[in-house]
Amino acid sequence: MHSIKSNRNLKLTLIAMTILFLGCNSPKEDLWEILEPLTLDPNIEAQIDEILPKLTLEQKVGQVIQGDTGSLTPEDVKKYRLGSVLSGGNSAPGPLPYAETKAWLEMADQYYNASIDEEGVEIAIPIIWGIDAVHGHANLKGSIIFPHNIGLGAMNNPDLIEEIARITAHELTISGHDWTFAPTLAVPKDLRWGRTYEGFSENPDIIRSYGDRIVIGLQGKFGTENFMGNGKVISSAKHFLADGATEGGVDQGDALISEEELARVHAAGYYSSIPAGVQTVMASFSSWQGRKLHGDKELLTDVLKVKMGFNGFVVGDWNGHGQVPGCINTDCPQSLNAGLDMYMAPDSWKGLYESTLQHVKDGNITIERLDDAVRRILRVKLLTGIFQKGIPSSRVNAGNENLLGLPNHRVIARQAVRESMVLLKNNNQILPIDPTKTVLVVGDGAASISKASGGWTLSWQGTGHTNDKFPNGESILQGIEQVVNNSGGKVIFSEDGDTSIEADVVIAVYGEDPYAEFQGDRENLDFVPNGFDTNKLTTYKNKGIPVVSVFLSGRPMWANPEINNSDSFIAAWLPGSEGGGVSDILFQTDPSYDFLGRLSFNWPQSAVVIKNNNDPLFKIGYGLSYDSIDYIDPLSENSGLENNEIASTGLYFTKGEVVPPWVIWLISGELEKQIASFPSSVGGLIISKTDHVTQEDALRINWTKSDGDYFRISSVKPNDLTRQSNGAMKLAFNAKSFTNSDAILQIGQCDDSDNCNKTLEIKVSGDWKEYIISLSSFEDLGVDMSKIISSILIKAQAGVDIGLSNVRLE
Ligand code: BGC
Ligand code: BGC
Repeated sequence: MHSIKSNRNLKLTLIAMTILFLGCNSPKEDLWEILEPLTLDPNIEAQIDEILPKLTLEQKVGQVIQGDTGSLTPEDVKKYRLGSVLSGGNSAPGPLPYAETKAWLEMADQYYNASIDEEGVEIAIPIIWGIDAVHGHANLKGSIIFPHNIGLGAMNNPDLIEEIARITAHELTISGHDWTFAPTLAVPKDLRWGRTYEGFSENPDIIRSYGDRIVIGLQGKFGTENFMGNGKVISSAKHFLADGATEGGVDQGDALISEEELARVHAAGYYSSIPAGVQTVMASFSSWQGRKLHGDKELLTDVLKVKMGFNGFVVGDWNGHGQVPGCINTDCPQSLNAGLDMYMAPDSWKGLYESTLQHVKDGNITIERLDDAVRRILRVKLLTGIFQKGIPSSRVNAGNENLLGLPNHRVIARQAVRESMVLLKNNNQILPIDPTKTVLVVGDGAASISKASGGWTLSWQGTGHTNDKFPNGESILQGIEQVVNNSGGKVIFSEDGDTSIEADVVIAVYGEDPYAEFQGDRENLDFVPNGFDTNKLTTYKNKGIPVVSVFLSGRPMWANPEINNSDSFIAAWLPGSEGGGVSDILFQTDPSYDFLGRLSFNWPQSAVVIKNNNDPLFKIGYGLSYDSIDYIDPLSENSGLENNEIASTGLYFTKGEVVPPWVIWLISGELEKQIASFPSSVGGLIISKTDHVTQEDALRINWTKSDGDYFRISSVKPNDLTRQSNGAMKLAFNAKSFTNSDAILQIGQCDDSDNCNKTLEIKVSGDWKEYIISLSSFEDLGVDMSKIISSILIKAQAGVDIGLSNVRLE
């Protein structure tokens, strides 16, 4: 299946070459599988030979740079002759955070037309336009949102994965996109990583068995008519290499693993996707043994291009080159010299263009290396037919919204949802549920397609999109209603779980809220209930009503209390917009349905991550069927966490409670007090509970006497918020003023120098409103974001009386 060169002579020659090139740093034996490069098409190479001499130096430099549509205009593309544009997770056109077909397509035309304008050049090269369609074309309103990769790994069905990729490509061609930054071939090894859900499995075999099939689904079969034919897009295997192996699961971190493990485990998906003709590979933000991939010639050139025979082009990740030692976002010859062929320079493209041009003139980048990068880019553009396809709106499928969310495509997504769910517990064989019964549905995930879809959905983080933004989808609740109403049963929905309601069975849908990239990194695997109070499940159980939990999450988590309080517990991952797939299986609406999903990751025994843990609660491969008679005894409810380690989730105060490890302090002059009950006071500062959305879900803080008293939410240990600050996260809260006059608040964050005098002024007036301050503005005040002790501090003058709720990072 894979065209792996077994020819011993070639292998030996390559080893000899490598040793010559690398001297004594080089690996002694070949740990890597040597792949035979795909045969180059002589016609295409001849065309490149013809084009290259016609390009000016400026044009060549432009080709190796990609900017983001949020930071460049079509005129810029024409002037600088850039090779590509991307639309990052938050760069959709128009005023909304997401866009519709028409807006995308208009934008596609504008950039494309700018790129082919021949004014001032002998030959103009069309751009290619990239986007993250990582679980369906989830940036487009009306598209089908497929389960995230973690669920598709549990499904373990290569035929279906190819179908999913085929449909994703089809939907991309409707909005005029040429290129998706998928598949992610990461092998996540630490579940604390915020991108765990973008990986299929911790088992490289599953990833290898998917790598080629996804590429074929997206691009068509290499070497056949079908390759890049109608409804096809360019694929990008990412993130090369070992993005899933970083220490502590830190996003963009460092993989301290052996070369053997790199080659054997983390390269698995590339061994199948490269022979399948994947046209681009994205370099990883991360490092291997302290070496940033974006500057690593041994891995980008000697391994990827030589040993693995990759002859497409290597694209960078979002300013990833700027992290190479000695580089900044606007200046980095190191990356191109290491083998990167196209920089992803979203907002830094202009400065980077200028410095790169100068480096070529000065000889810091050889013309041979630049020509090789441009040759590779032209090769992809010629092979994929971009030169002939014409303007995006004129292409097959373009603009035809009727082709979005086609019924026969939704059926595939629904099947994927069914096959991805893993049944962890089914005591007394509660499942399948009899649809003629009275079913109480609770939990904040039931009616929310957004929560069921996770990050990279309509926006980068994917949070808070209402169901009307998914015109071709249905929620899990809607799916349940369909089945039960048609069978003569009854559905009662109570999102926050009214425990006085009587029913025959409870279906509770809850779990992690959406996140993407480093914003999903966690200190530990403790599931901290957010939108739904899972303690309520105990009440139903005690009343003798069986509880079925549908757990939505981007990774296995320590959820023993929830598992104990459920008769059945299903890991549903992030199923996306086909909620009906969940009800199909809960009620077994067809006799052929059963739970086919099997864990593609080990499920943890405790919330503390133990390295190389071989004693998971549920082992990889585990998953029950309806008729399994396994009985899960009550599990330990000791999470293994010390108090001060408990989830730093970015939630500080929510639903009337301060979230551990955070605690509330009041300070008045020399007096300081940690607050455990309400009302309390210190000096003239009085704190009590008040109502915001529900009863007593907020704090009331009243400065009755002295000026400068303060309120703070602090933790014992300092917290590192550097990445949150770099990632443009914000401190958000809701507040109101209880008096008629404006409340002037000094808001701060304190680092462990305990200098809390650096504050920003905010005016709170009238009824409840949301207030937002970007973390970087505290950094600008000189606060050390790597050692935050107080996540919020509020000072005010006597007379100020405010309500405060939902203190969080956003
Ligand atoms: C991510 C990539 C993504 C790129 C473009 C980066 O931050 O790491 O996976 O393709 O942004 O949105
Ligand atoms: C972009 C994403 C990108 C991320 C990188 C966001 O602003 O929208 O596409 O992956 O930044 O950190």
